Amino acid sequence: MCQTTLHEFLHNLPKCEHHVHLEGCLTPQLIFQLAQKNNTPLPDPATNPAYESIEALTSRYHHFTSLDDFLAFYFQGMSVLIHESDFEDLAWNYFVKASKDGIHHAEVFFDPQVHMDRGVEYTAVVNGFVNGCKRAERELGLSTRLILCFVRHLPVSSARGVYEEALKKGDFEVDADRVHGIGWSSTEVGPPKDMFRELYASAKAKGIPLTAHAGEEGDPSYISTALELGATRIDHGIRLVEDTQLMKRIAEEGILLTVCPLSNVRLRCVESLDQVPIRTFLDNNVKFSINSDDPAYFGGYILDNYCAVQEAFGLSIRDWRRIAEDSVKCSWIGEARKVELLGRIEECVMRYSK
Ligand code: HPA
Ligand code: ZN
Repeated sequence: MCQTTLHEFLHNLPKCEHHVHLEGCLTPQLIFQLAQKNNTPLPDPATNPAYESIEALTSRYHHFTSLDDFLAFYFQGMSVLIHESDFEDLAWNYFVKASKDGIHHAEVFFDPQVHMDRGVEYTAVVNGFVNGCKRAERELGLSTRLILCFVRHLPVSSARGVYEEALKKGDFEVDADRVHGIGWSSTEVGPPKDMFRELYASAKAKGIPLTAHAGEEGDPSYISTALELGATRIDHGIRLVEDTQLMKRIAEEGILLTVCPLSNVRLRCVESLDQVPIRTFLDNNVKFSINSDDPAYFGGYILDNYCAVQEAFGLSIRDWRRIAEDSVKCSWIGEARKVELLGRIEECVMRYSK
């Protein structure tokens, strides 16, 4: 539990989340429960002891050795999702938790290629997640954005397939209000840095907002490639600090990094939380938000991440105000909603500054 004196302030501070994978919200408990309900066998514990029990799986999550080591569990875990209602429930459960943590706006990722690759219909995945988002808007007062991620471990043809299906269904149409942007994720180092060049060029020409996972394990050239391809936001991006020129450019252009501190520690991108370059980004005017990434795998939702940052860096209310305001200003929402959320932040800051 967070020991900082700012805990209550951090809880009440209106937050935006820009980097959470809905499939990363599948807890070990839910994996075992859905495996039984949907009759989707989990790996044999004789060959993979992590699947012996919920406790064994939970404890294995404390020993990830790399991004790819984690991804193997993440892709295995999501194989228990079959029906539209499974996807809807997963999203809804996340939004309930998010709302309790003080999130007012959430931009959430999902990986349709991986589900389609194992035979689940595109519409089951997207309808389920869209329904979860709409319910959160209606019942919790959140604003939401759904971001379709291309995955880097599958062939480009598979990403093209899902992109064309989404276009055909009209899911990227602004009026449809269903899928609001595109990102890329999964294995960073290995596949060609610019593998989605053509797809990103096509999406950019259609005005679809673009982001990309870059600079998590990969060096800063992964970040510059993502920008070259049209990303206007960078997911993770912590290795930006290794290239001061690029860092200057990102600060000047106001590009948001969606930083995920607990994820970086669990995946050994940094040795400890104080190595996440929070202070460097603040000092160099780099805009960033703080996010949970895959909360069911990394031991914390957004408030846990805010608290961990506070424990490591001892930020001031002024610093937090800046982080919260940048999070709103860089969200993919209209001006009216931004003004509303900025007003709520101001109110909260005034309350705790007395
Ligand atoms: N990095 C890359 N791909 C991912 C991640 C991540 O942290 N989480 C889920 N897919
Ligand atoms: Zn991620």
